[in-house]
This record gives sequence, structure tokens and C-alpha cells, in this order.
Amino acid sequence: MKIAIDGPAASGKTSLGRALAERFGCRFIETGKMYRAVALGLLRGLPLDAVVIDVAEPERFLLNGEDVTDLLHTRELDQASSEVGTRPDVRARLVELQRRIAAGVDVVMEGRDIGTVVLPDADVKLFLRASPDVRARRRVDQRAGDDLERTLRDLVVRDRRDSTRTIAPLNPASDATIIDTDRKTLAEVISEAADLVKERLQGH
Ligand code: C5P
Repeated sequence: MKIAIDGPAASGKTSLGRALAERFGCRFIETGKMYRAVALGLLRGLPLDAVVIDVAEPERFLLNGEDVTDLLHTRELDQASSEVGTRPDVRARLVELQRRIAAGVDVVMEGRDIGTVVLPDADVKLFLRASPDVRARRRVDQRAGDDLERTLRDLVVRDRRDSTRTIAPLNPASDATIIDTDRKTLAEVISEAADLVKERLQGH
């Protein structure tokens, strides 16, 4: 079973992905953290060729062997990761790593291009939508001390970069189910997505 979840920043992919992974006994992989780890390596002055990313259980991200998971969710890396995400050489390496991790296991993978590029044959493809205002509010709730206006501005910049890059732009796959989360609770989104997964499982 492979479940792909895509959508813009702070649309609820991680909360949904973790819940589905737990319910259906899958490994959960947040691919945005890989882009963040590459950006951290480049900010530290490493050339791309010297940046080695690995993922360890449970949900730990390694940069050249160092567990950097807890360093990845900063404002600086929000923007730096979306900049490195426009680089074809970075994407080629990470897509290859993501496919290797997903091979032969049940997995829930979330990001921007999972249903379109990384796992085009995924059993279930979900694409989450939410308005920028709602996403900015959610992000501020997650990161104590962040300013709402600034968070909204940052999200809009990132959205534009993610949607307009020439390689793997943020887009729903043609066979993805789109879930608009603005007026739904997380529990409702999880329940809707879990029903869809169950349907697919029964169909197999
Ligand atoms: O999901 P998250 O916000 O942590 O991702 C950080 C950045 O990494 C995104 O803004 C996006 O530019 C990039 N990314 C990507 N493709 C993915 C996952 C993330 O381009 N599959």
C-alpha cells in the first residue's frame, strides 16, 4: 500500500499522513524534511556532492550522519528549502532516495510531487487544499511566537515558488482526490481520507 499526500505548506499533510500511517501500519515519510536537510547542508557551506541525507526510524533525518531533525523547522529553512527545491540536481537525488525508501514497504509519503513524480503508481493519492489565511493561522499555532502577517507573507512567497518552478511544480495528479480542509476539522479530514484508503484496500 502506497499513499501519496501532496499540497501546499501548512495544509495539514503531516497530521493527516501520521494518522493514516498509524491506522494502516505504514511507514511515514515527510519529504519536505529532506529538502530542509539539504538546505541546511548547503547553508553550512557544504557542496551538494558532499551532502548525504538519510532517514532513520522513527522519523529522524540525518545530514552526513548527524541527526538534524530538530533543527529543520525554522523560518530560514522554510525559504531556503523552497529555493533548493527549484534545483534539478537536488530533486533528482531526493526523488531517487524517496523511491528507494518506498520500494517494497507500505508507506505514506507526503510532499509536493509525490503523486505526480515520486510515486505515480501510488494506490491512493490525496491533495490537500486550504486558503493562505487558514494555513498561516495553523502555522502560527504550531510555532509559538511567530507573527501572523509575516507567516502569511512567507507562505505566499513559498506557494508561488513551489507552483511556478519549471521542474515538478506543485500540482494535483490527475487521479488525486482533492480535499478542501478550510471548513473541516482534522478529525473530519482523517476520517474522509481513511474511508478512501479502505475503499481502495477492498477494491484490491
Ligand atoms: O513540506 P515542507 O514545508 O517541510 O517543505 C519545505 C520545502 O521543500 C517546500 O516549500 C518545497 O519547496 C520543498 N519540497 C518540494 N518537494 C517535496 C517536498 C518539499 O519541493 N516533495
